Amino acid sequence: MTNDNIHRQALTGARLPATPAVAGMVMIVLGMLSSSGGSLAVAQPQDRVPPAASPAKPAEAPPLKEALPDGFLLGAALDYPRRFPASASRDVALVTRHFNAITPENGMKPMALQPVEGRFHFADADRLVELAENHGATPIGHCLVWHSQTPRWFFEGPDGQPAGRELALARLRKHIAVVVGHFKGRVKQWDVVNEAISDAPGQLLRPSPWLQAIGEDYLAEAFRAAHEADPDAILILNDYGIELRHKRRKVLELLRSLIEQKVPIHAVGIQAHWRMDHPDFAEVEESIRQFAALGLTVMITELDIGVLPTNYRGADIAKAENPKTGQRSVMNPYPEGLPDAVAQQHAERYRQAFAMFMRHKDSLGRVTFWGVHDGRSWLNNFPIRGRTDYPLLFDRQGQPKPAFFAVMQALQPPAAATPLDSQPPSDPPTAPHGR
Ligand code: G3I
Repeated sequence: MTNDNIHRQALTGARLPATPAVAGMVMIVLGMLSSSGGSLAVAQPQDRVPPAASPAKPAEAPPLKEALPDGFLLGAALDYPRRFPASASRDVALVTRHFNAITPENGMKPMALQPVEGRFHFADADRLVELAENHGATPIGHCLVWHSQTPRWFFEGPDGQPAGRELALARLRKHIAVVVGHFKGRVKQWDVVNEAISDAPGQLLRPSPWLQAIGEDYLAEAFRAAHEADPDAILILNDYGIELRHKRRKVLELLRSLIEQKVPIHAVGIQAHWRMDHPDFAEVEESIRQFAALGLTVMITELDIGVLPTNYRGADIAKAENPKTGQRSVMNPYPEGLPDAVAQQHAERYRQAFAMFMRHKDSLGRVTFWGVHDGRSWLNNFPIRGRTDYPLLFDRQGQPKPAFFAVMQALQPPAAATPLDSQPPSDPPTAPHGR
C-alpha cells in the first residue's frame, strides 16, 4: 500500500453508516443545549456540583458513533483482560455503544504480549479484538516498539551486557512478525513505533534502548517488519507533543526521511494529551496540514483534556511531580466534584477541538479517547499520583458530561447547524460533573 493510496475503507475495516436516527438525535441534543445560559465564568467554590445521580442512564445518551461522518473512526482505549472485573461491565457498554474503534490501553504492549522471551500471551488481547469485532468496531494495535512497558530482556545479551545490534534487531523483528502475524487481517491499524522523538532541544531521536542497541534504522526496520507481516495494515508513527512547533520540525524531518527511503509508513499519530490552556489549536491545525501534505493520514490517537494544574506538558510516563505538602490541595483542586463553570469551559475546549477535527476530517483517519470515563483515566496518577481529574466525556458514574454534548454538537454537519453552533456550548440537561 502506498502513502497516497490509503482508502477510508481500509482504515475502518468495518463501516458503520450514519443512520436516519441521527437527525432526530441532533434535534434532541441541540434542544438540550439550548436550555441554558452557558457563560464561561470563573469557577467559584459554591458552583461545585455534588456527585448527584443523573436521571439519564448511559444507555440513554445518543450514540456518538451514529453522529460521525461516513467512514470516520471514533475510538476509546479500554483494557479488557480475562480477569476483567464485573463492576467494569459499564465501561464495556459505554465503549461499544459510543465508539467504532477500540485500542487496548495496555494489553498489546510488549510487556503484556511477550513478558518472557519466546512466550507470547495473546488471550487478553484476543478477547479485546473479539469484543471489537462483535460490535462492528475496528480493533487498533498499540504498540509494537516503545521504550516503556517493554521487558528488559529485549535489550540484554546472554552475558548480562547490553544486547548488540544483531540480537536486538532479531528480537524486534520476531516480536513484530509474531504479533502482527497473529492479528493479521483483524487489527487494521498499528502504532508501530511509539514516542521515538526526543524532547531534548537539538536531539532528533529519543536515546531509547532500541536506538542504543540497533541505531537509527530501528524505525525503518520496525515498519518493514510490520508491513511484511500484514501488508494491508495501516502503520502509524505515534508520539506526543508533535503538534507543537519544536517537536513538529523533528517529526517532519524523520517522516520525510522514512518516506524517501520508501519505508511503508502510512500515518502519523498525534497522541493529543491536551489541557485547558494548551496547546493552541492553531498549532495543531498547522501540524495536521503539514503531516497531511506528506501524503500521510493523521490519527488523533490518545485524546484527553485534563483540567488539573501541572508544570509538565508532555506525556512521558517516566516524569513525575511531587508537590510539597502544603501544595497538594492546590494541585488537586476538585477532589469532590468539578465546578460547573470549569465543566463548561472543558466542554467548550472539546467543542473547539472537534470543530477543528471536522474541518480536517478528510485528512484525519481516526480520533481515539484515552480511556472510557474519568475514573479510569491515567491522568488521575500523572504527573502527580492520586489526584481527581476530569479529562473525558463520561464521569465516574458513566454519565455523559457537558463535554459529551459539546462533541455531539460539533460532529453535526453544517446542514444540521443552528445559530447555537456559533455560541459556546451551554449547560446540557442535568449533566452531572460529580466524581
Ligand atoms: O499490570 C500491573 C498490575 O499487575 C499491578 O497490579 C498494577 C498496580 O499498580 O499495575 C499494573 O500495571 C500498570 C499498567 O498501567 C496497567 O494498569 C502500571 O503500573 C501503570 O504504569 C500502567 O500505566 C499505563 C502507562 O501507559 C504505562 O504503560 C497507563 O495505564 C496507560 O494509560 C499509559 O498509556 C500511555 C500510552 O501507552 C502511550 N502514550 C502515553 C500514554 C499515557 O502515559
